[in-house]
Amino acid sequence: MTKVLIKGGRIVTAVDDYVADILIENGKVEAIGRQLNSDEAEQHDATGLLVMPGGIDVHVHMETPMGNGVETCDSFESGTRSAAFGGTTTIIDFAQQFKGDSPKQALDRRLAAAEPQCCVDYGFHVILTDVTRAALAELPDLINQEGVSSFKLYMAYPGVVMVDDAAIYRTMRKVGDHGGMVNLHAENGIVIQAMIEEALEAGQTSPKYHQLTRPQLMEGEATHRVIRIAELAEVPVYIVHLSAKEALAAVVEARDRGIPAFAETCPHYLFLDQSEYDRPGFESAKYVMTPPLRNHECQHALWRGLRFDDLQIVSTDHCPFCFNENAYGILKSKQYGKDSFAKIPNGAPGVEFRLSLLYDGGVNAGRITLNRFVQLTATAPAKMFGLFPQKGTIAVGSDADIVLFDPHQRHTLSASTHHSNVDYSLFEGRSVQGKVQKVFLRGELIVDGEIWLGRAGMGRYLSRAASGRIL
Ligand code: URP
Ligand code: ZN
Repeated sequence: MTKVLIKGGRIVTAVDDYVADILIENGKVEAIGRQLNSDEAEQHDATGLLVMPGGIDVHVHMETPMGNGVETCDSFESGTRSAAFGGTTTIIDFAQQFKGDSPKQALDRRLAAAEPQCCVDYGFHVILTDVTRAALAELPDLINQEGVSSFKLYMAYPGVVMVDDAAIYRTMRKVGDHGGMVNLHAENGIVIQAMIEEALEAGQTSPKYHQLTRPQLMEGEATHRVIRIAELAEVPVYIVHLSAKEALAAVVEARDRGIPAFAETCPHYLFLDQSEYDRPGFESAKYVMTPPLRNHECQHALWRGLRFDDLQIVSTDHCPFCFNENAYGILKSKQYGKDSFAKIPNGAPGVEFRLSLLYDGGVNAGRITLNRFVQLTATAPAKMFGLFPQKGTIAVGSDADIVLFDPHQRHTLSASTHHSNVDYSLFEGRSVQGKVQKVFLRGELIVDGEIWLGRAGMGRYLSRAASGRIL
């Protein structure tokens, strides 16, 4: 296999920051040092660039069925290509158990779909929607044989994917004993459903009511409740897409008491607020994701949480639906819900912009350090979900998933230049400083400026070790 030598870059990990060369052999980092030389190696000059571990996005939904035939518009191929252009070299997507289905079948279906298509490395969290004795009995093997150490449960969407508190408790007990962790979509789905019905009965059907029927208080309530259940079950717990200050307060309170409660937030909660729902007509359907965008107070709280490690990870929750009914059809479009907010497919795109947004709005803006940026986007995700030290850092022996990043280059985020199938961006026209230049996946150059050198199917499935055991 070809050797690769990355010369003279500023290597930044979650703890280091120094100028050196990196020699890569057989897809792994072989040596790091000054003045490394190798005649046979393919050479890349990284002078003036940041050299960082490839990003790990632990919350994405590629070609995901949402019920009634509705499906996200990125395939594993288009979605992971888009991820790669944004500097993300590992994703963790979801494998959903349907009613009557087995968790292992759910995983097998997704593995079969992902394997020929993924352009970056990938793993799966298994979503449980039917927590039977038989399903629970399969979980230890999923953790120990298949490398799936994280399971997602929904406290929202009653009658669709929601499970009750007993199912949450039972799942936690089962997976906790075997090195697994439960990820929660924490919103009080029952109360929210009542509010949705109230709004519809009053004829309130516009997209704004998506936000008005999913109050911060009900995210806070569910977050508090599920952390208490995890405390009782004596297992770590991970809250996905945390958006509300009330939910963060529940995480902070638990962590202050020494409870292993973890949480992620997403760029849209950091950079956008609920005023987007005041856009005219159906335009605000672009911002219909769950939880919805919140107020400025929440944004401040989230940034503080990221700084002080009350939030450990920034993921994207990339869940793309086209705005227009285009070639992908109504079932992959927000237009599916044009008559009622309650039918608008929930989710928003963003897998490609995570690093640029967080670098510009976090590091450049003085809110987080460069080391913290790497921690939030690569190292903590790897440690949280059983991928470290193979992934998430630049160290001898680690996979050579490496991003060369120009900290000075300005560019404009736009759907006209991104690489996802989706036809809009939440951040259309936003100018950011800091751009991915080159991306290596296990030592292979897959992105070179605007040139795509990767291949569908080159991504490898990642069998993961225990989740949620970071201190
Ligand atoms: O709106 C969202 N977030 N859709 C994706 C499903 C989920 O809740 O994560
Ligand atoms: Zn999601």
